[in-house]
Amino acid sequence: MSETATVKLGDKTYDLPIVTGTENENAIDISKLRDLTGFITLDSGYKNTGATKSAITYLDGEQGILKYRGYSIEELAEKSSFLEVSYLLLYGNLPTKEQLDNFQSAISRHTLIHEDMKKFFDGFPSKSHPMGQLSSLVVSLSSFYPESLNSNQTAEEQNLTIIKLIAKMATVVSWIYKKSIGHPIIYPQNKYDYVTNFLNMTFGQRTEEIEIDPVVVSAMNTLLILHADHEQNCSTSTVRMVGSSDCNLYASIAAGISALWGPLHGGANQAVIEMLEKIKEDGGDTEKWINKAKDKNDGFRLMGFGHRVYKNFDPRAKIIKKACDEVLEKLGIDDPVLEIAKKLEAAALNDPYFVERKLYPNVDFYSGIIYRALGFPTDMFTVLFALGRLPGWVAQWKEMKENKEPIGRPRQVYIGEVNRDFVDISQR
Ligand code: ACO
Repeated sequence: MSETATVKLGDKTYDLPIVTGTENENAIDISKLRDLTGFITLDSGYKNTGATKSAITYLDGEQGILKYRGYSIEELAEKSSFLEVSYLLLYGNLPTKEQLDNFQSAISRHTLIHEDMKKFFDGFPSKSHPMGQLSSLVVSLSSFYPESLNSNQTAEEQNLTIIKLIAKMATVVSWIYKKSIGHPIIYPQNKYDYVTNFLNMTFGQRTEEIEIDPVVVSAMNTLLILHADHEQNCSTSTVRMVGSSDCNLYASIAAGISALWGPLHGGANQAVIEMLEKIKEDGGDTEKWINKAKDKNDGFRLMGFGHRVYKNFDPRAKIIKKACDEVLEKLGIDDPVLEIAKKLEAAALNDPYFVERKLYPNVDFYSGIIYRALGFPTDMFTVLFALGRLPGWVAQWKEMKENKEPIGRPRQVYIGEVNRDFVDISQR
């Protein structure tokens, strides 16, 4: 491969540098294109645009490969904890025992949230969506920790802001849940690890000590690890874009949470269960719903199918499917929507429409079934995704700052009216 790409415009040619990543991904560096030629590139939805050089996550959509910092997702899901993966994403290496202990105790020290913030939870109507609450609560942390507003924090100060956010996020998420069911909130306890503490605050009772089933802790760890990062997707790009304006961490992450909410992105896990339930109530005729998804005059899409970058299989979906079977078996749960999900998957995988378009089940197809088995209500699913994605968002925000990346500001091709004369309102 030559080290430049040549662009020919009229009778002029321009050489543009080629950038090759460590996994041999190639890109044409067009950063000087407009200066050189007056042209920009047009790429709606950024399907072919690399917005950054990143050392955090690698994925190969054709081969179904996903790695965090060079470690395969399969190995991390099997052998590590969510906090270990968080450390890996944030600081680049797997922690030693001592580093992990220090990280854990730093997190434990900051799990409490300001007592005044409890009033916020009371202000939301009981039916308000947890994602709207989460986004508002995370951005409001910036009011309680105003030192985060300084865009020139030292590395140490910045790290403390990061630790506080990761620590408090689990408390915020579990309190959103407790408030939604009208139960008293449970305070964090330092004796627990991150995931057990979260589960205790979510499912624990004030009056008695509950035992958290290790199967549940393990399933939760797996789900959070699988969601921890996914390179430059819609929400992560949002976090980097918002952060590129020198905006504080809490505001950047709150923007990412809003981006994740949509059903085409993280909101798909809620949409999948709602779809499966609808199909069940409708009599369970999966063929009918497959046909609806194929009908271009019908707005229906098979939720949990298809992915912008995975065009063979989603490696996370494979791990989750296995975890889902294990959890349901160990907890003795017989969920009728699982049968619908399996039938739908089998039908879609054999249907030319889905095969030709390379539409496969994505991570969200099975995650909702596990969340349900663990006892979470449907509208909490995307919040759980956000809890898992948090270390990835933060690592991407941190990398963007460390790389001193410029403010994100795409261009456009203007296609509107040209030079219209103003007409007085009485004449229009
Ligand atoms: N059901 C039916 N048809 C679909 C689906 C689906 N779920 N997904 C894509 N298609 C079809 C499109 O209609 C299009 O068909 P056409 O070429 O005949 O017009 C073709 O497949 C390509 O689809 P695009 O929308 O162009 O693909 P894109 O990469 O832009 O979208 C997306 C990817 C948004 C994930 C899409 O597949 C989708 O809407 N899936 C359902 C929602 C979902 O599960 N989202 C979660 C994604 S994973 C995550 O964010 C964590």
